[in-house]
Amino acid sequence: MTVMITGGAGFVGSHICVELIHAGRKVVVYDNFCNSHPEVINRIRRITGTAPEVVRGDVRDVEALISALSAHGCSAVIHLAGLKSVADSVSKSTEYYDCNVVGTLRLAQAMQQTGVRNIVFSSSATVYGEPDMLPLREDHKLAPFSPYGRTKMQAEELLSDIAQSQSPLNVVILRYFNPVGSHESGLIGEDPNGIPNNLMPYISRVAIGRLPVLNVYGNDYPTPDGTGIRDYVHVADLAAGHVAALDCADKQRVLKVNLGTGRGTSVLELVDAYAGACGKTIPITFAPRRAGDIASYYASAELAANVLGWHAKRGIAEMCRDAWNWQRKNPNGYLDQ
Ligand SMILES: NC(=O)c1ccc[n+]([C@@H]2O[C@H](COP(=O)([O-])OP(=O)(O)OC[C@H]3O[C@@H](n4cnc5c(N)ncnc54)[C@H](O)[C@@H]3O)[C@@H](O)[C@H]2O)c1
Repeated sequence: MTVMITGGAGFVGSHICVELIHAGRKVVVYDNFCNSHPEVINRIRRITGTAPEVVRGDVRDVEALISALSAHGCSAVIHLAGLKSVADSVSKSTEYYDCNVVGTLRLAQAMQQTGVRNIVFSSSATVYGEPDMLPLREDHKLAPFSPYGRTKMQAEELLSDIAQSQSPLNVVILRYFNPVGSHESGLIGEDPNGIPNNLMPYISRVAIGRLPVLNVYGNDYPTPDGTGIRDYVHVADLAAGHVAALDCADKQRVLKVNLGTGRGTSVLELVDAYAGACGKTIPITFAPRRAGDIASYYASAELAANVLGWHAKRGIAEMCRDAWNWQRKNPNGYLDQ
């Protein structure tokens, strides 16, 4: 079985490549490298002994997708290509809708034209918005409050509609919670451009000395230590969830599943765990809450266990250990070749 992974050179996609190659699948990375480094392909080869095929292309380019899907005989697609910064999605909303929504539509059209039926789509817990109740179950209402979250919700909707059309696709929608960590080898990991938007890579940059201090936004939330609570999931566990999702893809037309651990961790708990992993103090400073931030959310992991037979195996200590291992071996990310 050959699987196309759009966005396969990115943080999550590179870990999925490793997992799929280990599971005996052939992999085609389809990526325009707008937020990733070609060195990642070499690193995947070093981990697995196999280099994935690479097609440099844009997910909005139907003709390029059609020719890549047919030339490589792909039988399924894992669709990760997209833009993911909540803040940028406000200032560059047109780009976000074009890449995330139009890109998903073009991919679906290319799949219909080539007869490739199964798609696993990277969605996000941001589609839920403010939780009415915790843990967040898949049937919770969707009310995202950023353009980014709305692009994910719209991509989910268009795929779900296409699943019922005359030329149907089998769709598995995976709603990621907060992917962190890296492959245990320290050869691939999260390498954001500029100042990281997410907490874990920010802590890593403070730990390695590239940033002076971690700003903790809000210490007056209604949580035990006053800081925000999220459901961090090890990226290697997340990657394994995609292999399970591919195996279930043709069991039902549309499946929407959370990928999270079901456990919440506060900012201060994560900082403590990271300090333990790297043996350094992480300097922090408290700053006011950011508009739009939610106090606490975490997944119900029940459906993933029942339907995909998947659950996260690694805890916060392993997430921090592996994030630090990647950072200390690659202080400048993939530029350290
Ligand atoms: N990392 C997270 O915290 C998180 C959480 C929830 C959902 N997601 C979703 O998972 C997916 C992967 O996230 P990631 O963290 O690996 O991001 P990433 O930016 O590291 O990877 C995305 C990849 O897609 C590529 N890409 C972007 N636009 C493209 C286009 N138009 N055509 C072809 N390739 C394109 C980029 O070059 C990059 O390699 C994204 O869709 C993201 O929205 C991520």
